[in-house]
Amino acid sequence: MGSACSRWDRYWNEDTGPTGPGTPSDTVPPTVRFLTPSGQDPAHATAVKGSTYAIVIDADDDQGVVQVALTIDDGPALDVLGPGWTLMWDTTVLAETSTHRLEATAVDAAGNMGTGGPVYAQVFNLGPEVVISSPADGALVKGQLEITVEFLGAVPDIERLEFFAGIFPIGELTAPPWTYVLDTRPLPSSRYVLTVKATTSLGSVGVSDPPVGIYVHNGIPDVMIDFPIPAVDTVGAPVPWKFATRGTLVLEGTASDDEEDEIPIPPDQIVWRSDLDGPIGTGLNIQVQNLTVGSHTVTLEVTNAWGTRGSDSIPVEVLAEGTYMFCEDIMDDIIVWGQCTKCHNPDSSEWPNMELDLRTYSGLMAGGLTTAFPIVSPGRPEASFLYNKITAVWDSVDAWVGEPMPPPPPLLFPPVFDYLKEQMRVWILEGAAPDDPEECG
Ligand code: HEC
Repeated sequence: MGSACSRWDRYWNEDTGPTGPGTPSDTVPPTVRFLTPSGQDPAHATAVKGSTYAIVIDADDDQGVVQVALTIDDGPALDVLGPGWTLMWDTTVLAETSTHRLEATAVDAAGNMGTGGPVYAQVFNLGPEVVISSPADGALVKGQLEITVEFLGAVPDIERLEFFAGIFPIGELTAPPWTYVLDTRPLPSSRYVLTVKATTSLGSVGVSDPPVGIYVHNGIPDVMIDFPIPAVDTVGAPVPWKFATRGTLVLEGTASDDEEDEIPIPPDQIVWRSDLDGPIGTGLNIQVQNLTVGSHTVTLEVTNAWGTRGSDSIPVEVLAEGTYMFCEDIMDDIIVWGQCTKCHNPDSSEWPNMELDLRTYSGLMAGGLTTAFPIVSPGRPEASFLYNKITAVWDSVDAWVGEPMPPPPPLLFPPVFDYLKEQMRVWILEGAAPDDPEECG
């Protein structure tokens, strides 16, 4: 810039415009991209045909696109209708095999302009009428894919069929049968639009219509059982997770698949199975009771929408009875002996309005209303409020646990001895099973 103009340059550069300070001004132009046609250069022009070929433009802006215009070759700007930004193009009036250049502009409310293209399209209206009869549009595809082509009307004398995924050639056939086998395994997971170009011995060219969209995905779902996690023995083999059949086996897993955002894993395809009992539940997190007594392998099987399965397994040992029994080892030894029900009983005179009722198995499992969650979490003693309450230490009171139980002196309640804490821990670990019958006599 010449120095004579520098005052004006500064003025223009520093001017914040009519919006003034405090008003956020939109300076981000829209992004514009052609979805169809999509040929990047004249040699890879997208084949188009018909009187209503849909030109589809993807125009995006942080504040919203207000107008999209399209030019074909050096013609006038045409208004594209949104949302969806689609324009029907009559290609039948164009010269056969002629190639055309398309460009688009999009404008946002603040007047910022973005441009897309050029893309190239080549017209084929007069050649043989060819359709892809398989796969179907929208098919989910993996492994070897057979692409089958049919001709409408009299079968012309075909010299060559060329197959494309988008603008990329995938292969060609020069003799019947007109079925091309595509190995999809090397292809990145994505959506592809299949088209076929048929050339007759007389040199006329036909392009398949309508285009066929497929989703290719060869990935295996990643599946993991997160709970329980069996211990391992000295040689690293998993030690079966033990639980009492009347108790609750909590099973939790995770499953993921690369294409989950596009096409999620069907919920009913997340299946827990036991080699002894068959399917035992669906969904990532389940709770089961009354499994057959014996050694099981419990498997989480997850099948994605493409039918590809991933799995994880753990060994589980189902016991007829747990190491400790509820009535004898929990109710009698801890609750009754410890006089917990003096307070934990809705009719307590010691503690009016007490919500937690420790007089029965069902009361104990229901938990206290103030805690708003159960005080026993089967399989997880360390996460169980009941176990934490009796193992907490008075002088290092944990905020989550609150005051330990039983309450300390000067109230004189019998202490819960360590061997009783261990009984409680193992009983919860093995599924917090009730006796049969459930309530203690
Ligand atoms: C002197 C009365 C008293 C006795 C005896 C007593 N508790 Fe408590 N307990 C309370 C009070 C009051 C609370 C609520 C305050 C708190 O959570 O810190 C409570 C809370 C609890 C909670 C938390 C549940 C909830 O709803 O907040 C558990 C679990 C518990 N006690 C278990 C026991 C056990 C097991 C024993 C016997 C070993 C026992 N308590 C003995 C008075 C008592």
